[in-house]
Amino acid sequence: MSKEYPPDKNFSEKAYVKSVEEYYEIYKRSIEDPNTFWLEKAKDLDWIKFPTKSFNWINKDRKVFSWFEDGTINACYNCVDRHLKEDSEKTALTWISHDLKETKKINYKQLHELVSKFSNVLKSKGVKKGDRVSIYLPMIPELIIAVLSCARIGAVHSVIFAGYSVPTIKDRIDFAESKLLITSDGSYRNGKVINFIEDINLALEGNPTIESKIIIRRVNLDLQLKENEYFWDQEINSENISKDCDCETMKAEDPLFILFNSGTVEKPKGTLHTTGGYLLYVNQTFKYNFDYHKSDVYFCTADIGWITGHSYMIYGPLSNLANVIMFEGIPTYPDNESYWKIIQDHKVNIFYTAPTVVRSLMRFGKEPLKKYNLESLKLLGSVGEPINPEAWFWYYENVGNGKCPIVDTWWQTESGGFLIAPFPGAFNLKPGFATKPFFGIEAEILRDDFSKAEIDEPANIVIKKPWPGMMRTIYKDHQLFLDIYWSKFKDYYFCGDRAKVDKDGDYFIIGRLDDVIKVSGHRIGASEVESALVSNKNVGEAAVVPFLHKIKGQAMYAFIILREGIVISDNLVEELREHVSKEIGPIAKPDKIQVVKALPKTSSGKIIRRILRAIAYDSEDYGDLSTLVNPETIEQIKLKKL
Ligand code: WTA
Repeated sequence: MSKEYPPDKNFSEKAYVKSVEEYYEIYKRSIEDPNTFWLEKAKDLDWIKFPTKSFNWINKDRKVFSWFEDGTINACYNCVDRHLKEDSEKTALTWISHDLKETKKINYKQLHELVSKFSNVLKSKGVKKGDRVSIYLPMIPELIIAVLSCARIGAVHSVIFAGYSVPTIKDRIDFAESKLLITSDGSYRNGKVINFIEDINLALEGNPTIESKIIIRRVNLDLQLKENEYFWDQEINSENISKDCDCETMKAEDPLFILFNSGTVEKPKGTLHTTGGYLLYVNQTFKYNFDYHKSDVYFCTADIGWITGHSYMIYGPLSNLANVIMFEGIPTYPDNESYWKIIQDHKVNIFYTAPTVVRSLMRFGKEPLKKYNLESLKLLGSVGEPINPEAWFWYYENVGNGKCPIVDTWWQTESGGFLIAPFPGAFNLKPGFATKPFFGIEAEILRDDFSKAEIDEPANIVIKKPWPGMMRTIYKDHQLFLDIYWSKFKDYYFCGDRAKVDKDGDYFIIGRLDDVIKVSGHRIGASEVESALVSNKNVGEAAVVPFLHKIKGQAMYAFIILREGIVISDNLVEELREHVSKEIGPIAKPDKIQVVKALPKTSSGKIIRRILRAIAYDSEDYGDLSTLVNPETIEQIKLKKL
């Protein structure tokens, strides 16, 4: 059994939840009487009209439900305006440029002015409540301002990760039928300038819905504006733009944002989150799992293009009056010490990053850490993939100096906020365990036949009932929402992960059961990569599975069948990797591409991916082989394994 780390006494004394008994007492109430529990918690937000009820099944068969349905609220108001009375001078955002040379601090009053002005800019371009706005930006303050401005006027934001390539950007803008696009001339990556404009223009070719484009000049390209294009700085500083903009009254169930994610189907799915329940859920999880107190400085290294950036760089922290550190760059530029320098210089108290970052910085040993004073740290967070014990210990001992709890947060784009994560003042920590569920979350481990798994037996993790921050649907495809999440275990939400629970009720997340691959914590659907590969003229068939990677956690292993007459070469492998990069983005490039004569298939021609997965993982555990029609493929593939 792995060692346990009890909570630090000093930490517990000041924590919102001070013991595991106290947690259980509150948790029990949240399950037995969710209505009273969540209405009580809802008081932590400022509502326009306070709701009278919390959860409601509108149609249980179709999994249509609401939280706080008669309440009205504005998410931007809760993240900005409500802090103005007492804390207008408090720093909301500390932005640090990619090369660490520039720092900008924006207090809540300034944030309010910037957001109000930009909201008026959006209105002046005809954006109205319910319209979709796509955002493709690097990690600059304007990204947060743009998101909050959409929320202020009731427009639905759809942020697209700024590492995606043309076809992926195009799909996401087209599918959302966005009215307006906010982007920049480019970004800085690894000290180099990346030009966005060419890609954006290609992505917008033939798009019928975008009426205007607002461009931020980040890398100062010499740009000539075309029709319906505007510069952010000129617009926001225009005399016609007022500093006042009322917050739109939103119903709790009005959409707040769409975030496309990967997995199960070839095309990205638009995860839809609504306003009241989502905001309350991220507000509460941020408060309790990070034990956030007013003066804490909080540094999250996630990109806002992913859910972590939405929930725990914007809505969770700002609704809790946090000082959020936003870093434009990456952990290994200008050198591999940038995070440590930021923690020291800004006296960071809470640091939230991904295991892949920890592993990539572990390579450089402890020496770089010793140069910096990291005494300010009081809590370390982890997200995106399972954290392996080696990384956990290194993080705990060297970054946290043995005194900071590691809050390993297990959750998903679909869940809106943390599902299972430690209450740091209350729980014993166990490396690799996300520990116990948040209030209101009833998790279970079920076997494929619906029976309950034994203690320590790995199986499907499911959640019994919707929680406030849960996605409401897949944008424009409710049936897909039912098929993916609610059909495997009727009436239980299927998370797509395998997990086990120990005798203390602590959960250990093993990994995905479906075709989602977490490369450096980034979520990529194997089927998307497969369709990118077969769209290349040289490839006939492709199957993509994960393999274990020392730094990235998982990386992609592609098995391909080439078309007649095509011969593999190093150049072709590189061409295929580049092709995937152009179709999806550099993060989706397979690390390994193996040419095979045949893929393991069933008689109906379905590829049995679990066999390939086992081969890639160097395992012999192929599962049931009775449906396999070409067993010889196993040895053939293994023989040439990369
Ligand atoms: C995985 C990221 C183990 C998991 C917030 C989940 C984790 C998927 C953890 C969702 C963790 C996330 N431990 N696995 N702490 N956090 N995952 O939508 O497989 O990008 O289902 O959301 O990441 O990925 P997504």
